[in-house]
Amino acid sequence: MAAVGDGRGRGCCRRARLHGLVNFIADRDVRSYAGCARNQRGMSRAVVTGATGLVGLHVVEALQTAGIEVRAFARPSSDISRLAARPVEIVSGRLDDPAAARRAIAGADWVIHAAGRLPLGRRRGLENRPGPYRIVNVEATEIWLCAALDAGVERFVYVSSASVYSLDARAPIAECAPLGPPYEYGISKLAAEERVRRYQAQGLPTTIIRPCVLYGTGDRYFLPIMLRLARLPLLPLVNGGHALFDVAHALDVAELIYRACRVPSAAGAIYNAGPGEAMSLRDIFDTIRQVVGHGPRIVAVPAGVVEFLARLAHWPTALLFPSAESLVTPAGVADLSRDGHLDITRARQELGYAPRFKLAQGLAATLRPPHGMGPPH
Ligand SMILES: NC(=O)c1ccc[n+]([C@@H]2O[C@H](COP(=O)([O-])OP(=O)(O)OC[C@H]3O[C@@H](n4cnc5c(N)ncnc54)[C@H](OP(=O)(O)O)[C@@H]3O)[C@@H](O)[C@H]2O)c1
Repeated sequence: MAAVGDGRGRGCCRRARLHGLVNFIADRDVRSYAGCARNQRGMSRAVVTGATGLVGLHVVEALQTAGIEVRAFARPSSDISRLAARPVEIVSGRLDDPAAARRAIAGADWVIHAAGRLPLGRRRGLENRPGPYRIVNVEATEIWLCAALDAGVERFVYVSSASVYSLDARAPIAECAPLGPPYEYGISKLAAEERVRRYQAQGLPTTIIRPCVLYGTGDRYFLPIMLRLARLPLLPLVNGGHALFDVAHALDVAELIYRACRVPSAAGAIYNAGPGEAMSLRDIFDTIRQVVGHGPRIVAVPAGVVEFLARLAHWPTALLFPSAESLVTPAGVADLSRDGHLDITRARQELGYAPRFKLAQGLAATLRPPHGMGPPH
């Protein structure tokens, strides 16, 4: 990992420029068309990081549908099978390698930075250690910001998260709501946003997108968990699951990201990305039941009771499983008890964002696709 951090953005870029001269010959294949601002048809070129993930795959799809030439950045260990079926150039490298970032960005007009570490992993469960989030979500983001500033791209879109808001934010949560996430994941996304704003001040045109929880083809988290819970006969939910909980289709958010690249006034702006419709967790389980044909009976548990149990369980859990965090923490209970519905007025008015997928329709399209990318992992 290159040394990057607070107040060192400019130094990083200067070092990168020197390093870039040394690597010029190695990079010349990519640089051979780096001087062109547009491809032969006059369309934009975009680089997408995290292109093998839920958001990245849908961004690639949305950009290609719009005729944009896409270069997908993936790590060497990534499963690129879903990308390989598309007419997309794949650049492989480490996310935290400045030379790899420069190679990938050369000749691009837009950078969509969607690579990130999420709180749930396929094997690792819930996690709340700061280190891994900081390395991937903050430090690697700065490497890409630095490379984008040096390359003079037209737009850098950072895929942040609605997790940056404080638990005190009142629904519908607008972009100006109080910030202050209670979890390490949200803390890292907010720190990354601060880096993005710093590079914006240095002249890089950036846009920050704050999505709610997402689902769609390639979903590694939400749908697999919900489908497992849907098999239970009984599901205790804080306050009966009546709190509002936003979940949106990744393709809707991908289309918003495309609009954020195109609209000049989106430079320097932050946009929430939610479904628009307010649903509760209970409504979501009802919809899943309609689509898959089964679902649990929901039992209401008072937030106070869960919070009391959470306080009792917190320290033993932290001692026995230091790298694991349960949602049954006081902050987790508070999160599940409050309305987390996002206000998407700004994205609607300034970017013409109009989410197309109602949950039932989006779930059906994901779980029973007529063709295309297939069900979640
Ligand atoms: N999913 C959501 O509900 C949600 C909601 C709000 C915001 N977001 C944000 O959206 C972005 C994309 O998330 P997603 O839903 O697409 O997650 P995802 O499906 O897990 O995909 C994450 C992507 O990032 C890549 N990645 C992760 N760790 C990496 C590392 N150390 N080095 C290089 N690449 C790495 C993954 O590569 P591999 O394929 O090799 O693992 C994958 O391409 C993230 O920044 C996340 O914070 C997601």
